Amino acid sequence: MISSAMIFFLLIFVIFLLSLIAAKRPKKYPPGPIFLPIIGSIYAVPGQAAHFNIERWRQKHGNIIGHRYGPSYEIYVTGVDESLAALKHPNFQGRKIFYHRNSGIKRGLFFNDGDKWSVIKRFTLNYFSEFQKIKIKDVMVDEMNQLFSNIVPNTVVEMNYQFFPIALNVLMKLLSSITSTRDSTMNFILTHTYKSLHETRPTGIENYFPIIRKLFFAKDNSVQVVHNYLKKSINEHRATLKVDQPRDYIDAFLIEQEKRRALGDSDTFTDEELVVDCYDLIRAGSISTADAIALVMLYLVLYPDAQNKMIQEINANIGRDIMPTLDDKKKLPYCEAVIAESLRINPIVPFTAPHRATEETEFYGYVIPKNTIVKVSLWTLFRDPQLWKDPDDFRPERFIVDGEFVKYPYHLPFGLGKRSCLMEVMARNIIFLYIASFFQKFSIHLPHGEPYPSTDLVQGSVAGPQPFKVLIKSLR
Ligand code: HEM
Repeated sequence: MISSAMIFFLLIFVIFLLSLIAAKRPKKYPPGPIFLPIIGSIYAVPGQAAHFNIERWRQKHGNIIGHRYGPSYEIYVTGVDESLAALKHPNFQGRKIFYHRNSGIKRGLFFNDGDKWSVIKRFTLNYFSEFQKIKIKDVMVDEMNQLFSNIVPNTVVEMNYQFFPIALNVLMKLLSSITSTRDSTMNFILTHTYKSLHETRPTGIENYFPIIRKLFFAKDNSVQVVHNYLKKSINEHRATLKVDQPRDYIDAFLIEQEKRRALGDSDTFTDEELVVDCYDLIRAGSISTADAIALVMLYLVLYPDAQNKMIQEINANIGRDIMPTLDDKKKLPYCEAVIAESLRINPIVPFTAPHRATEETEFYGYVIPKNTIVKVSLWTLFRDPQLWKDPDDFRPERFIVDGEFVKYPYHLPFGLGKRSCLMEVMARNIIFLYIASFFQKFSIHLPHGEPYPSTDLVQGSVAGPQPFKVLIKSLR
């Protein structure tokens, strides 16, 4: 007779055998840490700054590293040729879908792909590039003036927090024409966005085991709170909409919604889609832009020679009275070089967001299974000694050739190809205008008696400087 204890042990043995089989690497899968039953190679992923370990893994396993995070196959791509090829590969342009972010359905601009996504993306790009050029500029000038009027020269201020509300305000004004954004709702959105980018990791275990998310993260309803706020704003827009005078992105979307409905398409431009699109733009755009500005400030306070050179360039080419415009970029190559070098030496997005293989794909002799997540390590690309001389040194001059600012095809802080940053142009413009306008009026210095600022960034999906203080002096 087989006892129940024997059945139990037999069952455990079968489960163990099955998970051993599941732990086997697929044929021709890239080398990487050993897979364990159930968890795959989660144990090998460092807690926070995964990119620091990539070099170690690259030396051991080669330029393409194969992982399995729980049930999900993931590869890290390094090496210049492999990275550029992965970013451009037509089969790697899908995205990992985080359903908890999208109210359970495939929606939005970021963690989405497919035909509807392409239509909405094109609409969004057109809206921001054509229709809103002038408004973006006006909104930014407003925000900069407000920032400058609040600065008291010869005082010590915590630098990075200055930029979070500004970056959010610019976005909220473009999305929903909000004019007074410094209130409790905006603070909530800001805190939620900051936390969701800096306090959660793309490698967080909850992203791979939905049960863990349900058990430990279910109480966090902050995504829903922001969604509800956006829903309310959409309803208010609809009630006051003038078809011939769109005020902002929400208006333009609602007008397109009506047009499409008249043609029999009620599925693409829905209110629910609009909520997630706005959420994605706020989440992807506010903290990242603020972190990038703070990062440039951090390197400028640490490298006063670079700061002086930039201030002299602004003074010589623009003067002190007229605020710089985007047309001045050509006149300020060193300013552009400082921004580029800051985003190279310490990229605020160390890995691209997770791409997804939409087909089984042969890539550099390996076979990448369908639905594998593909991440390119931008950090490794930007610190590669074969591409950059003394890559650990902050040297803006590397971006200047014959007095002109030069671009390198492997300097890609915004990614490359179909899944590159949707708002790269806008983000670059905002950063340039803030930095050029700020250093037209002020200089920053290390204050006595304060801790020396660290260049170790707060990690997360987006990385940003730790809080640091500077002494601001007026240049007048
Ligand atoms: C300095 C600021 C920024 C940096 C460094 C940055 C960088 C990036 C990077 C590296 C990606 C992923 C590329 C990939 O997966 O291959 C990305 C995607 C994206 N970014 Fe940005 N970004 C910035 C600002 C912004 C702003 C201001 C917005 C919107 C207002 C924005 C919206 C997006 C969106 C929607 C995507 C997803 C695109 C897609 O999946 O197709 N980003 N960004």
